[in-house]
Amino acid sequence: MQQYKLMDTDVLVIGSGGAGLRAAIEAFDVGVKVLIISKSGIGKAHTINAEGGVNAALGNVDKEDNWKIHYEDTLKEGHYLSNKKMAEILVKEAIDSVLELARWGLPFNKTNEGKLDQRYFGAHSYRRTCYAADRTGLAILKTLIKQVKKRKIKYIDGIIVTSILAKSNFVYGVTCVNFKTGEFFVIQAKAIILATGGFTRVYKVSTHPEESYGDGIAMAYRIGTELQDMEMIQFHPTGMAFPAKYRGILATEALRGEGAKLYNSKGERFMGKYDAKRMELSARDIIARAIYTEIEEGRGTKNNGVWLDITHLDPKVIKKKLPKMYKQFLKLAKTDITKEKIEVTPTAHYSMGGIKVNSTTTETKTRGLFVAGEISAGLHGANRLGGNSLAETLVFGRRAGVFAAKLAKKTKFQEMDLARIKKEYKRITSPFKRGRKLEITEHMLKEKVRKVMWEYAGVKRDEKMLKLGLNEINKIKKLANKISVSGSLKRNHGWLDFLDTDNMLVVCEAIVRSALMRKESRGAHWRSDYLEKNDKEWLVNIICRQVNGKMLLEKAKVIL
Ligand code: FUM
Repeated sequence: MQQYKLMDTDVLVIGSGGAGLRAAIEAFDVGVKVLIISKSGIGKAHTINAEGGVNAALGNVDKEDNWKIHYEDTLKEGHYLSNKKMAEILVKEAIDSVLELARWGLPFNKTNEGKLDQRYFGAHSYRRTCYAADRTGLAILKTLIKQVKKRKIKYIDGIIVTSILAKSNFVYGVTCVNFKTGEFFVIQAKAIILATGGFTRVYKVSTHPEESYGDGIAMAYRIGTELQDMEMIQFHPTGMAFPAKYRGILATEALRGEGAKLYNSKGERFMGKYDAKRMELSARDIIARAIYTEIEEGRGTKNNGVWLDITHLDPKVIKKKLPKMYKQFLKLAKTDITKEKIEVTPTAHYSMGGIKVNSTTTETKTRGLFVAGEISAGLHGANRLGGNSLAETLVFGRRAGVFAAKLAKKTKFQEMDLARIKKEYKRITSPFKRGRKLEITEHMLKEKVRKVMWEYAGVKRDEKMLKLGLNEINKIKKLANKISVSGSLKRNHGWLDFLDTDNMLVVCEAIVRSALMRKESRGAHWRSDYLEKNDKEWLVNIICRQVNGKMLLEKAKVIL
């Protein structure tokens, strides 16, 4: 490494999804210098895959609803692993956050009286999911981007963050590569907000975009930050099953919210066997298990899915309330959902585990490192209520912004540690120096890992499979240490694969080890060798951190 460029900012926001943008807006309004960086273009985030809506107990449609019932639903459906303080903050503050978006011009669907309309989502006691047709996440992003632009908050895309810099457990910046130019540089910051999203792209079948391999998680882990409940992966019950190329793409829960029904290949409306009361509006964990069981027991469709049918609805209603679904299935599966049923299958959708945070401030155990959105752990426990993720990005994004900005105001820039920066440069350029014996482009390591995770640590798990999975991960890890990349840092997708693989292997190890440790079935964590929920031993969070280069796991009390 010769010289490196140095930039600085008071608050650095990494990630430009709902949480990152909402955090940036708030930090800016507190009065500090804010910089947003992200890998891809502004707003290209998993936020858009929360299509069906955002929860706020407004009671516009069902007058009986209020934040207390929303709170109870959140805890109950999270199987009581949620941080209660976070859940309370969420349900109370989601109300103002959603109304704020409406004031900022988000085109929510309205009732005849002109109030925000609210639809059913699975496992909610009342209709409390506010929505903009079936493009709610996208509408939120567009609204937040307008606010970011209005404030002229600085934004740079195409930036690959390779590590977080911390000294004496206090962050002071990040090392990055500008993907377009190949330049390695450092951003110095007084506080950092990690909003890099979830990591279910580590699974072969996933709703997450190409970039969601858990880089934020791995970078935080490497500086000693604690992870929590990494075994809790939400498998959304309905991803597209067909065509194979599009397997996993989300078929929004709003379809079921608007009345779609599930059938197996024998034409049976099978949810009656699994949750006769709530049927297709049961919780996500229950429906995902039900669909998995139907397929496993031979009642699936020829493309390994089940049928979802909304053809009983008036086509005009479908096109008005579910326009994205209508177009998506027409374009990708050549299916008109107003006339034909569609094939769906569970898909890895959401990371309920992630980085452990302070419930009020979103700061991690590493001082100055704040976390917002899907990368954060705690709120959703063992199963997230649909619609709570968008609410979380707004509520905890705002909080991360306030608290990071307040800390930045009273903090000075720390001195750079040149040796540490040099070491990082050496790490990220090491595969260029390994000759060309094992070219990454020929080994498709990411795809290997994704297959392993789907087969060994997917919807249904057991000790034998998890151990085999861990073994496979270790083998891939050994291979990854020898892999070579040719060319330079400039626009080098092979090099990006190397970095992604390194990060996803940390994430996958944490998922599998945590899943092995939790010897019970709870919410999304379904162990066929421990079918019962065991409150006596396992009503606890699993914390995971790096100690002397090793992954250490321990139980921790759920925060009340
Ligand atoms: O099905 C959906 O639209 C997903 C929503 C969510 O994950 O909150």
